[in-house]
Amino acid sequence: EERTFVMAKPDAVQRGLIGEIVSRLEDRGLKLVGGKFMQIDDELAREHYAEHVDKPFFDGLTSFITSGPVFAMVWEGEDAIRQVRQMMGATDPAEAAPGTIRGDYALDLGRNVIHGSDHEDPGSNEREIDLFFDPDELIDYERIDEGWLYE
Ligand code: GTP
Ligand code: MG
Repeated sequence: EERTFVMAKPDAVQRGLIGEIVSRLEDRGLKLVGGKFMQIDDELAREHYAEHVDKPFFDGLTSFITSGPVFAMVWEGEDAIRQVRQMMGATDPAEAAPGTIRGDYALDLGRNVIHGSDHEDPGSNEREIDLFFDPDELIDYERIDEGWLYE
């Protein structure tokens, strides 16, 4: 099964939305295989968002993502990267459909509550998982509902 890296950003933590984000992904049938409550330092922030290093918003982005604790997760399931991106909604919450996480919980591009690996950037999931988790922090197990989630 495919794995994707997901993060409740500092605004989600401060606003008490960790549980809501976890619940939505669980309810969908995705399987949590890793989770870590942590503080991102500047070095990790710059590496995680390296693709944006030349953008005008880069400094604001790294200072935001290091501004408080985050909840980093790895979720597994069929087509997990794309499924999570769909549930997240558009990057700019103003464009995100109601019913999506950003469409329901965010208003501002720079405070969009959730990160998920990019399905348009192949390998970004593996790279992000490696960056945030040691292999022994990810757990292989079966959920009892798997036979009812997949044909
Ligand atoms: P992430 O899951 O956070 O990576 O969001 P994304 O993949 O939907 O968007 P992208 O990787 O393109 O941008 C990363 C983050 O930078 C976004 O989540 C926004 O918070 C921020 N961002 C992106 N574009 C802009 C912009 O034009 N202006 C500002 N201020 N922030 C931006
Ligand atoms: Mg991105």
